[in-house]
Amino acid sequence: MNILWLDTIDSTNSEALRRLPELPSGTVLAAREQTSGRGQRGNTWFSQPGKNLTFSIVLKNLPLTAPQAVRLNELASVAVADFLQARGVEAAIKWPNDIYVGGRKICGMLIENTLGPGGKLAASVVGIGLNVNQKDFPQLANATSLTLCTGKEYGLEESLEAFLTLFDSLLPRLLDSSLRASYTARLFRRGVPARYHDLLMDREYTGVIEGVAPDGRLCIQDPAGERHYYQFKEVSYIL
Ligand code: BTN
Repeated sequence: MNILWLDTIDSTNSEALRRLPELPSGTVLAAREQTSGRGQRGNTWFSQPGKNLTFSIVLKNLPLTAPQAVRLNELASVAVADFLQARGVEAAIKWPNDIYVGGRKICGMLIENTLGPGGKLAASVVGIGLNVNQKDFPQLANATSLTLCTGKEYGLEESLEAFLTLFDSLLPRLLDSSLRASYTARLFRRGVPARYHDLLMDREYTGVIEGVAPDGRLCIQDPAGERHYYQFKEVSYIL
């Protein structure tokens, strides 16, 4: 993979999407500072300049159809969890792809795809914000970082290279059941009774996450033993 470090940019995802036609597959845009980092659900992604990893990986012509795009979310989540584990930090994946340590968010992802002919993914921009050396999060009550977990400081350039080596090594397993198994094994709250808000029915209940269906929907079992399957934005975790 070829890393291009940018001093300041609005958002590495936005820049990757703007430059998509000219960027070869495997290009990584990494920013020391993002002025308008974008998160899920139209949220802003806050990150102190020079402290964390904020980057976007451009991948073209992956062997995925649009419904299989979830496989890429799973791969990126497993890669981050493996990266943290290699540094002694036990992380869990909060479906679909937030990474949590001890109930606090350490990493978020925004994956944006473009479609090609035949319903295949033409290009994917895997945007990852991983908190590395930031020690205080004034705007965010529920955030943490690698340094807060281990007490160590990390070089951003070498950390990104190490992460990308891991990510790259998982790519051949994109459609493998072993990758889904690693993802499921790491699911935050799996097998543990906890509170959820079903946004379709607008009701709260205590349920147990069983896993993720092949189509990427989260499966939660309610106290009556009934299984509920959710797409993104159809359920929220009550933390
Ligand atoms: C979320 O948890 O809401 C997703 C956050 C994604 C943030 C990353 S930082 C690098 C890339 N560029 C962006 O503007 N967003 C993603």
